[in-house]
Amino acid sequence: DGFTAEKLFNQGFSYTYDDVIFLPNYIDFPADDVNLSTKLSRNVNLSVPLVASPMDTVCESAMAISMASLGGIAIIHSNTTAAAQASLVRTAKSRRFPVLHNPVFLPPSAEITSTDDFADSPFILVTESGNPKSSLLGYVSRQDWINSEANRSDKGSSRVHDYLVEAPVTVPWSYDLVKIDQTLSEKKTNSVGLVSDDGELVDLVTEDDVVRAKGYPKVLAKGSVGANGEWLVGAAIGTREEDKERLEQLVKAGVDVVVLDSSQGHSIYQLEMIKYVKNVYPEIDVIGGNVVTMNQAESLIQAGVDGLRVGMGSGSICTTQEVCAVGRGQATAVFKVSSIAYKSGIPVIADGGISNSGHVVKALSLGASTVMMGSFLAGSTEAPGAYVYQNGQRVKKYRGMGSLEAMTKGSDQRYLGDTAKLKIAQGVVGAVKDKGSVLNFIPYTLQAVKQGFQDIGACSLQSAHDLLRSKELRLEVRTGAAQVEGGIHGLVSYEKKYF
Ligand code: XMP
Repeated sequence: DGFTAEKLFNQGFSYTYDDVIFLPNYIDFPADDVNLSTKLSRNVNLSVPLVASPMDTVCESAMAISMASLGGIAIIHSNTTAAAQASLVRTAKSRRFPVLHNPVFLPPSAEITSTDDFADSPFILVTESGNPKSSLLGYVSRQDWINSEANRSDKGSSRVHDYLVEAPVTVPWSYDLVKIDQTLSEKKTNSVGLVSDDGELVDLVTEDDVVRAKGYPKVLAKGSVGANGEWLVGAAIGTREEDKERLEQLVKAGVDVVVLDSSQGHSIYQLEMIKYVKNVYPEIDVIGGNVVTMNQAESLIQAGVDGLRVGMGSGSICTTQEVCAVGRGQATAVFKVSSIAYKSGIPVIADGGISNSGHVVKALSLGASTVMMGSFLAGSTEAPGAYVYQNGQRVKKYRGMGSLEAMTKGSDQRYLGDTAKLKIAQGVVGAVKDKGSVLNFIPYTLQAVKQGFQDIGACSLQSAHDLLRSKELRLEVRTGAAQVEGGIHGLVSYEKKYF
């Protein structure tokens, strides 16, 4: 019944996730028993197959901490200076509490004139001299300030000192939820400052943060931690000469894996960079890509990659297929590249085009070991940038790294367009609805993925890959009408007040 993947993907069509559907198999285990542990690359093990994409509206330190605490991993983008990127890696690796703010520092004598003074943070940290190296006095809460401003008759600037909540207790930045919780009750305080190894104040954790962190659905007892007890963190680099200097700084910051970030990875630049990384930093895994064909994959494997990133033009903000006429349907690309990569034991990352848990099940069952996501994680609390209200909806910006806006900041290297006089966009800028914290919604995605695995009779990723190769995983193409049937259809809107 149905087709094998081998047969389906060899008929001259480029299929994406929505084009195909799996046929169910026999179930002899509960969904909770499905083991999703996997490999990102040859030597990087994860307990959850999810990766945050190296994009500047998706992945900085906050995302890295949350993804690692969930058991996945994040790749810090490179659309900034080498020093700033290394500092994002260092911040992510040093923290153990899963919530991070980017607070503004001010002295008590400073004035607050608008909520802009808080930037993206829920509070301003107040130190003696207003810089992170001087002693913590306390904080001004954004909400308190807004509330009291609303009740104030004399509008105008207000002094930090007048809103200061005293909170001088500090702890090392490596304190986890349990230790911070203990400190709050022992010291009878409702917040603690986090101080780096160099004695610099970096953040504040409040009682509210602790309550929220305790309330997130539990996925794992421990997230993705390396041998030294720090979170696993990846970073993207390019393939230019100056990326060697960037790499050195990232390695010093403790990066665990690097991703060579290119929209078309089968190039002389990438082959040389793979060899360079393997030669100079044999202890660091290097992931190559992006690729979509077996030939591209073979070439990068020969050069020594530890992982392959698959996808070209499948991302939600991508226009590569339209602008350059090159790419491949993502289901076909994942199956084809995986079918060559597994022979050399190289894990595949299915990158782009994930918009629901079913897509994750499809990517992993077609041979990928992890999925990389941009839009799925954009709009979350952990994604960089501030929320704004647009037509009554709370949204955050999400942009392609090939959009003109992102390329102006330097990401054109990803498209090898750095020497071109005219910049051609291969991506767009958009906005994504507020989704809340990834710590809250990713556990639901994972549970749904486990149920999908149960339906096809796979109790682990390995077992899904075995079913694929033993031809026990059967699938079919969905016609347009079958796709409509598979979605919600035939209903009028449901208004609760009438029922
Ligand atoms: P999703 O669908 O998860 O896709 O939002 C994220 C992936 O899309 C790729 N990417 C781009 N591709 N133009 C492109 O053609 C772009 O501007 C662009 N920016 C990101 C990238 O692989 C990412 O992981």
